[in-house]
Order: sequence, then structure tokens, then C-alpha cells
Amino acid sequence: MDLTTGIELNNGVEIPRLGFGVYQIPAGKETQKAVEWALELGYRHIDTASIYNNEADVGKGLLTSGLSRKSVFLTTKIWNEDMRNKNLIDSFERSLERLKTDYIDLYLIHWPVDGSYLYTWEWMQKLYEDGKVRSIGVSNFHIQHLKQLEKLGGMVPAVDQIELHPWLTQKPLRKYLNEKGIVCESYSPLGGKGSKLLENDTLNEIAHKYNKTPAQIVLRWDLQNGIVVFPKSTHKERIKQNRDIFDFELTFEDMERIEQLNINKRSGANPDKFNF
Ligand code: A2P
Repeated sequence: MDLTTGIELNNGVEIPRLGFGVYQIPAGKETQKAVEWALELGYRHIDTASIYNNEADVGKGLLTSGLSRKSVFLTTKIWNEDMRNKNLIDSFERSLERLKTDYIDLYLIHWPVDGSYLYTWEWMQKLYEDGKVRSIGVSNFHIQHLKQLEKLGGMVPAVDQIELHPWLTQKPLRKYLNEKGIVCESYSPLGGKGSKLLENDTLNEIAHKYNKTPAQIVLRWDLQNGIVVFPKSTHKERIKQNRDIFDFELTFEDMERIEQLNINKRSGANPDKFNF
């Protein structure tokens, strides 16, 4: 399989397998600079959200990069409060304004807020039909939430973006997404901020064998599993390192060893019992 090409979503739109995430990168110059570096280093996919409070800086980074809007795949997400308050169109338009664009490549429901995510999904389908977003999907959805959407009988989400890394491999959910033709996206691919995942002995042993870093091993494991991944970093050297994962291949045995590291350990909230 050629991993340098994108993955085709269920509506034919192509998404780059590797992106740059900006969750927890402080708003202002820090986000703008990181986005500029990522684009300079060849990333063509940026993942943000209205709650990250840095959409405007992503927009600035895109502008100063000099790249055409069309050459960059842009994801953002609608926040829980806006769903609860039915502040949908206003929230979407504010995202467009901050990002300085007139369309979004992939628009996601950020969390499966009870009592709100079904009507939000119906509204998102209208945005899609109006051509304001090229594809729509969800984030933090478990099988039960996806089944509720399915009952509506409308569009199938193009992606489900979930916390996923070697300590939380999400195998049953990945299998379900695969069966439904929903692309799996990993957030916190390196275990999340402050995690000690990259110090893991097995990952370090495998890294040594391929002359790569543990971060590169984990990201390559995602790619080989057909998972879309967007590591974040505020260090240029690491942004570059995280990009250099297309020139080696993990063996089946090493892929399995990484899968075996699963301990169902989350760094973020559990979508079955979040309280925000
Ligand atoms: P930093 O910004 O200081 O580089 P994620 O949330 O994507 O799983 O990432 C968790 C943390 O891993 C980030 O806060 C980032 O911190 C750090 N990180 C990103 N790339 C690398 C890398 N190649 N090696 C080590 N740490 C990294």
C-alpha cells in the first residue's frame, strides 16, 4: 500500500494521512509559528477546534505560508456549549471567520453531547449539502453513539476522531469503524501531554532496531493501520521528525508487539462519562 497518498473518505474526498494537530498549543504567536513550520516542512493537513481557542492563529499561519487554501486540508470542530445552545450556524461562521476561509474540509462534532448530537448531525448534513464543508464526521463517538446516528438514516460520518495510542489501542472500536467505512483518526497519538508513553521499553527497543525515535515508531504504526494521525509539537525539530515516517516499514511482528502494549489508559476524558 502506498502510504504517501491520502485516504479516500466515504464521499470520495481525499484526506492526508499525516496532519499537524494544535490542541493545547497556546493561542497567539506560538500556534501561528508552529503552523508555519508544519506547512514549511510539508504538512498539508491541520487539525484544530473552536474550543482550542487558536483557530485565528491557524488562519494567520495559513495566510503567511503563502500556500493556496485548496492545498491544505483543514479540520475544525463544533464545541459542546454551542451544540447545547443550538448556536450552530453562528458557531460555524465564527470558525470560518477566525480561520479566514469560506469552507472547511472536515467539520466534526467534538463530543457526543447527550440530547444535542443527533440534531447537530442533521444540521451538519445541511451544511454539507450547501457546500460549506467538504466532509463531516464525529469525534469521541463510541459504538453506541454511532448506532444512534445510524438510526437517523442519513449520512454516515466520514471519520471518527478518538484518543488512540499504544496504551489505548481501541481495537473493538477500530474494527467497527472499519466495517462501517468510517476512517479512524487518532488524537493524542503520542499518549498526550506529560505522558510517559515514549519512554516505554518496547517502543525504545523497536526504535533502536529501525534507527528511528519512539515517536516515529508510534506514528508509523498508525499509518500502517490505516489510521489518520496528527501529532502536535511546538518544536520545529520534532515537527520535522514526526513527518519523517514514510521511509521505513514495521514488520508484522513489531506491529503486533506495539498492539500488545494496550492497557486501556486514557490521557483525556472518557466519552461515556464526560461532564463538560
Ligand atoms: P512538545 O510540544 O513539547 O514537543 P500528542 O498530544 O500528540 O500525543 O503529543 C504529546 C506531547 O508529545 C506533545 O505535547 C509534544 O510536546 C510531545 N512531542 C511531540 N512530538 C514529539 C517527539 N517527536 N518526541 C518527543 N515528544 C514529542
